[in-house]
Amino acid sequence: MINKAKLGVLVSGRGSNLHSIIDNIEEGKLNAEIAVVISDVRDAYALERARKHNIKTCFINPKDFKARGEFFDEIAKNLEDGNVEYVILAGFMRIIPASLINAYKNKILNIHPALLPSFPGLGVQKKALEYGVKYSGCTVHFVDEGCDTGPIVLQAVVPVLDDDTEKTLSQRILKEEHRIYPEAIELVINDKIELVGRRVIKK
Ligand code: GRF
Repeated sequence: MINKAKLGVLVSGRGSNLHSIIDNIEEGKLNAEIAVVISDVRDAYALERARKHNIKTCFINPKDFKARGEFFDEIAKNLEDGNVEYVILAGFMRIIPASLINAYKNKILNIHPALLPSFPGLGVQKKALEYGVKYSGCTVHFVDEGCDTGPIVLQAVVPVLDDDTEKTLSQRILKEEHRIYPEAIELVINDKIELVGRRVIKK
């Protein structure tokens, strides 16, 4: 069997996307291993999920660093220590600096709960409802220096129903996130796609 891709997963919260990645690895659908799960929030539930699966975890407290750059240097150090090849943002609530993006060129992925480029940023299911779009969804994209602006790997469309609330729409989008994030990771780690300008094309 070909070597497993080494993933480093960055989290800040509940970790349901982390969970779906772990499930896909355990079911043999993703030829990868999670070398480390790093959180910037001490009691993020994602850390507990990782520990339950005997995955190495690490809490890095942003308050311990004078500058944002130093905090991210510490993250980079932990990724390097785990020989991480791909960085997976799974509900990590910070913008990634150029230093890390350059160290992992086109090897950092993020999932966003809207159809980018519509509704980047935070609170986007509420924004989609308020705007009145009939379709929303989720997007897996490469991470660049902007906020949710990198090349799109996969998207899934979720219809907005008349009686949707922020909660019900978020739940249906999340179900799709859990499906397409592992799928996108599989495409990237197995070198099945290429970047042509901003377009991600299947080889
Ligand atoms: C997801 O909705 C994801 O799209 C966004 O943050 C949320 C993380 O959820 N980036 P979880 O921690 O994976 O459950």
